[in-house]
Amino acid sequence: MSTDGLVLVTGGSRGIGAATATLLADQGQRVVIVDIAPEPLVGTDAILWPAPFDVASEATVTAGIADIEAAHGPITGLVNAAGVFGKMHRIERVRMEQWDREVNIDLRGTFMVARGVGVRMAARRSGAIVNVASVAGMTSGPIHAYTAAKAGIIQITQTLAAEWGRVGVRVNAVSPGFTRTAMLEAGIASGALDKELLSRPSAMNRLVEPFEVAQAIVWLLSPKSSGVTGINLPVDAGFIAGSTWAAYGGLPEAPEA
Ligand SMILES: NC(=O)c1ccc[n+]([C@@H]2O[C@H](COP(=O)([O-])OP(=O)(O)OC[C@H]3O[C@@H](n4cnc5c(N)ncnc54)[C@H](O)[C@@H]3O)[C@@H](O)[C@H]2O)c1
Repeated sequence: MSTDGLVLVTGGSRGIGAATATLLADQGQRVVIVDIAPEPLVGTDAILWPAPFDVASEATVTAGIADIEAAHGPITGLVNAAGVFGKMHRIERVRMEQWDREVNIDLRGTFMVARGVGVRMAARRSGAIVNVASVAGMTSGPIHAYTAAKAGIIQITQTLAAEWGRVGVRVNAVSPGFTRTAMLEAGIASGALDKELLSRPSAMNRLVEPFEVAQAIVWLLSPKSSGVTGINLPVDAGFIAGSTWAAYGGLPEAPEA
């Protein structure tokens, strides 16, 4: 990819954001990571923005983007990876404070950062933005606010792509399937999630690795995807393709090698 410019990665201290920032930095790209709980990425040249950066705070987002550009130069690529998982609940037990938290961080936060950076990119007539949505935004599940927020990210991705297409700013989304981040591993370790149940519906019968999502994001940031805007690219080991097969008796098992 072209390594000119500067990529800003939100939620860059952990998980998919960290994997993306690491891959970009390893390829020689200048990267700044921001996070609500900022921690450096050991062993990479990714630059840590040391102040806590809450994507749900309009004041933090507005001032933070201006300060980052003043310190490090124009942002040419943006990865919106900051997010929180949805709490799994029966519908009667969904607490609206929890609903507001998930929507504020996952949807409203993604919009605010995309708008703050995208308006600057549009004025400079170039840039690429990748929003991290989820297969949860394309399917249903007992994570009511999260699925709605992630579907909203897929929608705003299209709208922003249309908004800025004529001024050279591309906006795309990736939708990871269940991805083996520390948070997911913690859910498995606590017994809240079952690795077998998470893996089995996917065509490839496995979880996605963070670096696999990172590779798709890096492609969507790069000139190699210069004709692509407004899409939502699932990186899901075939979760969407395979998830309806249970109704027909299940996916075929691989024969013994
Ligand atoms: N892991 C999965 O299975 C999976 C699947 C689909 C989508 N996603 C999405 O990928 C994105 C990254 O998730 P992850 O799995 O890497 O999780 P993670 O918890 O490992 O990383 C998320 C990062 O975002 C930061 N963050 C949380 N709230 C923030 C806020 N208000 N402002 C700034 N930073 C904040 C966290 O501190 C953390 O560093 C999220 O949007 C998540 O919904 C994850």
